[in-house]
Amino acid sequence: MFFRGGRRLRYFNMPFGSGVTKCPGRFFAVYEIKQFLTLVLCYFEMELLDPAIKVPPLDQSRAGLGILQPTYDVDFRYKLKSNY
Ligand code: HEM
Repeated sequence: MFFRGGRRLRYFNMPFGSGVTKCPGRFFAVYEIKQFLTLVLCYFEMELLDPAIKVPPLDQSRAGLGILQPTYDVDFRYKLKSNY
């Protein structure tokens, strides 16, 4: 949940837009994202190159153009799990 001025915001995240032109591919897109994450987590061991790195803030200059980009990369190394 997100709050502004003590009030709970109802619409704090709308990556798929709204109204009659709301993204018709949104359910498919969410399934794809979940499937990708599941496969990556099942098949790979991952490690941050810099364990102290902070979650990057989002690039607000692109607000209004769908999903916001992070302001910098978070580098990691990965390898196939030994049981695969
Ligand atoms: C993470 C993935 C996706 C995001 C963040 C996204 C986001 C959006 C947004 C913000 C809009 C504009 C909605 C509005 O007018 O308020 C849109 C429209 C649209 N999206 Fe997506 N979308 C994604 C994936 C997809 C996929 C996978 C498809 C098709 C398979 C798709 C098909 C469309 C179409 C056809 C429109 C135009 C709808 C219209 O103007 O009536 N999108 N999408």
